Amino acid sequence: MSAHGQPVPMHARRAGPLRGQADVPGDKSISHRSLILGALSVGETRITGLLEGQDVLDTAAAMAAFGAQVENHGGGSWSVHGVGVGGFAEPSQVIDCGNSGTGVRLVMGAMATTPVTASFTGDASLNKRPMGRVTDPLALFGARAYGREGGRLPMTLVGAAEPVPVTYRLPVASAQVKSAVLLAGLNAPGETVVIERVPTRDHTERMLAGFGAEIETVERPAEDGQGSEHVITLRGRPELRAQDIAVPRDPSSAAFPVCAALITEGSDVLVPNIGLNPTRAGLFTTLQEMGADLTFENMREEGGEPVADLRARYSPDMKGIAVPPARAASMIDEYPILSVVASFAEGETVMDGVEELRVKECDRIDAMARGLEACGVRIEEGPARMVVHGMGPGGVPGGATAATRLDHRIAMSFLCLGMAARQPVAVDDAGPVVTSFPIFETLMRDLGADLRRGGADAGGQGA
Ligand code: S3P
Repeated sequence: MSAHGQPVPMHARRAGPLRGQADVPGDKSISHRSLILGALSVGETRITGLLEGQDVLDTAAAMAAFGAQVENHGGGSWSVHGVGVGGFAEPSQVIDCGNSGTGVRLVMGAMATTPVTASFTGDASLNKRPMGRVTDPLALFGARAYGREGGRLPMTLVGAAEPVPVTYRLPVASAQVKSAVLLAGLNAPGETVVIERVPTRDHTERMLAGFGAEIETVERPAEDGQGSEHVITLRGRPELRAQDIAVPRDPSSAAFPVCAALITEGSDVLVPNIGLNPTRAGLFTTLQEMGADLTFENMREEGGEPVADLRARYSPDMKGIAVPPARAASMIDEYPILSVVASFAEGETVMDGVEELRVKECDRIDAMARGLEACGVRIEEGPARMVVHGMGPGGVPGGATAATRLDHRIAMSFLCLGMAARQPVAVDDAGPVVTSFPIFETLMRDLGADLRRGGADAGGQGA
């Protein structure tokens, strides 16, 4: 939906090659955390390159509602005057996190050990998503949650007046749950410990260390003797010190111009300054294994995160592979666009261990399967799997409209599909794209994509 609540139909059709430089926006995960950790610090945190997508703007508003002074200086430059650990004030209005699971879960964690009460809500997508996965561990600290049946929003969370520290073994591979527990642990006395079997994105740990918290991750053999696990230990009640943060560009957003270039004949696209934290970079490894022409230039470290310039060229020789399930967490947001690339590869691409896709902004297995089938691609699915039968370069018929179900990544995936399919592909609503990649439409057009407002049968009136 647009800001006015009206759906924004859009379609893409095959055009010339995609060429040029794609300056994708700042990393969504790091942007949320910059605002939240800035709000929990003493002093002024200055942030450059903040993603000004709706998800992050909602978190900025939430931090202001809890008493931080959040200022937008223009051009992605923001500052946050924090209130310090334990310093949150009680908000006087409902906290609306819009479409953002990361926003609501991290903010709940950040307030759960402070004696304030807050009510949370979101859009129709967020209000369907499971919150018990964070409110269960937050209850162990002493917080109390009152939500709808099944642990859904809207929900009121009463922060613990006398929090106790917690040791928590993550039952799902989720950086959001891990981060909620760690943020709650900040205002609990003693040590909070999170044990994770499958490594998930570690931005919270890296950034907490950067803000001056005492936090340590140790890898040890798993209790069941199979493989290893990470034990993350945080000492509570640190004084977090304000930081200057340069947010790297988002690899999950970069995935769209990169993948569109791989499947669109003659393309050659450079995406500079991409964050390549190994807990996020699984898609690029997978694409290289499929035979994609990807090169990483200028590998370097910036602000504690690995960064590189990524170049993607049209790759007509890609082959389907079995994506190792152990890699799922490091590319969890990229399966929709991978399934698009897989449609243009030769052979089967098998994606297993992807049950978390069912509880994202929508059920992403179902959304991709239905949309790809409508575009003429054969799909098999199971509760935690998806198999795409590739049709080879240029072989996808297209000619359908996909339902985006309030999910930005579903919308962008089908628009990228339309750039290389034989017939145009439309989405019923590209409005959700503003949550993570507000400049997607202009950026893709500048590269050469034929992307237009309206359904495909609208004859393509311009935006
Ligand atoms: C995120 C973690 C992931 C991811 C989301 C952002 C984060 O969710 O899907 O887009 O910033 O921590 P889960 O941790 O629930 O898998």
